[in-house]
Amino acid sequence: MFSKIQQSVAAREAFSLVQSDLQEVDREIGIESVACVDAVTTINQYLHAGGGKRLRPALVLLINRLFGPSNPSARRLAAVVEMIHAATLVHDDVIDVAKTRRGRPSTNVVWGNHISVLAGDWLYMQAFQIALRERNFHILDVLISLTQMMVEGELLQLERLHRIDVSEADYMELVDRKTASLFSACASLGASSAGADEAAESTLADFAWNLGMAFQLVDDILDFTSTEKVLGKPAGNDLREGKVTLPMIYALESATPDERNAVQTVIHDGSYEQVPFMRVLQVLQAHNSISRAYERAHTFTEKSRAIISAFPDSEVQRALRAIVDLVTERDC
Ligand code: IPE
Ligand code: IPE
Ligand code: MG
Ligand code: MG
Repeated sequence: MFSKIQQSVAAREAFSLVQSDLQEVDREIGIESVACVDAVTTINQYLHAGGGKRLRPALVLLINRLFGPSNPSARRLAAVVEMIHAATLVHDDVIDVAKTRRGRPSTNVVWGNHISVLAGDWLYMQAFQIALRERNFHILDVLISLTQMMVEGELLQLERLHRIDVSEADYMELVDRKTASLFSACASLGASSAGADEAAESTLADFAWNLGMAFQLVDDILDFTSTEKVLGKPAGNDLREGKVTLPMIYALESATPDERNAVQTVIHDGSYEQVPFMRVLQVLQAHNSISRAYERAHTFTEKSRAIISAFPDSEVQRALRAIVDLVTERDC
């Protein structure tokens, strides 16, 4: 799962700085995953055992450590964001009719839509229960606004599904809502639980927001360029699901009528039966769209790098810089 992450020494060191905290976060999630109804507990455990990169809890912990030694609040909030992330994935897979997640059949495939939606709801609320224990309105404010942003993002995405005329601005709005807002919340929570002032919290939220934007752009690029084995979810999925993402938006700006038709056919059919995936890759290639999308992703990571580089040099600051590099270099 971590192929490139494990290859990169700097990134491995970044994660190792918070390794013991992450293990505690995992234990906490395990304990908090138990419900009165077995189906919910089983789904939670299935999701958790599926792994995942744990990037969001690592972000909470690293940002927190910029200000001093790690504290129990940060570990609890790291568990909260990973649980919210897991809940969004469960709901997202229902909405997207996904088949695979984290290299295994997605929960909707194993338990069906009804149970998955309810398990996702339970997980959201359990995350809020843990957050509530902090007795801190600011934390609740961040988490509630975030969840509404993400739900609105999924709704907007549904409205725009199967449309070929998506603009770059429409796309960026979705990425902001779906992904960058959660990254930004991770930084806010990490900073505020360290007692950082409002200005530092908002600067770091901006750092993580840009990181999240780049992360989703790269996710959408990898959907075209990687393989199911590496990704843990099928390649070519987005277009098949009717989602026109940045590489395709760029290609469509200058596509020939023939190329446009090919893309439209995949979206219409929801499959690569008439138009093979290779043909779609050729269209992207012909318009240099993958490189352009990477360039756009780099504009976000450059912003992140500039923000974090203004913080005093330390082991933690270097770890955050390594994570910035990792986001655009990753292959899964
Ligand atoms: C998946 O996030 C959803 C996106 C924002 C693309 P991750 O790629 O971080 O998923 P896991 O947690 O590692 O499985
Ligand atoms: C990202 O959306 C998931 C959320 C942030 C809710 P996608 O639908 O693009 O993510 P994958 O490709 O299923 O991981
Ligand atoms: Mg999806
Ligand atoms: Mg995707």
